[in-house]
Amino acid sequence: MASKQGLLLALLAASVAVGCLLPAASAATSVEYCNKGKNYPVKVSGVEIVPDPVVPGQLATFNISAFTDKTIEKGKLVIDVKYWIFHVHSETHDICGETTCPASGKFVLAHQQTLPSFTPPGSYTITMTMLGDNDKELSCISFGFSIGFVASS
Ligand SMILES: *[C@@H]1O[C@H](CO)[C@@H](O)[C@H](O)[C@H]1NC(C)=O
Repeated sequence: MASKQGLLLALLAASVAVGCLLPAASAATSVEYCNKGKNYPVKVSGVEIVPDPVVPGQLATFNISAFTDKTIEKGKLVIDVKYWIFHVHSETHDICGETTCPASGKFVLAHQQTLPSFTPPGSYTITMTMLGDNDKELSCISFGFSIGFVASS
């Protein structure tokens, strides 16, 4: 069975191999809805990532600016991180732990996470799905972020 480190090393090798094909990371983060034709109850206007690029082993903040004409009293935030085509990380959070509930009108989802220090540098894609009561989909967005090299201390 491959260890997580082994998988990430393989990914790092793949990243070096395909590195010359990947476009340079751009500073602006553009957000896309998972289903562009869908009218999600929660609209997302932007994402702020600090620091950008994200530094492995250090706390990163993903602040998502959102708007809804509903009232969110409870729900879940499901996070999936992909590296190229590989699924590397997934976690589920209580929405009310990342914003103040009840949330309505304009609100910010402040998601913080620390990626392990062995996470290889490169371009990643994060997908965030917001689920409300009865797991009804409130929104689903995806955006890219980059991971830089581990900061030398
Ligand atoms: C993210 O949002 C929270 C809550 O609004 C705010 O306190 C924090 O300063 C924001 N962080 C960044 C890096 O913008």
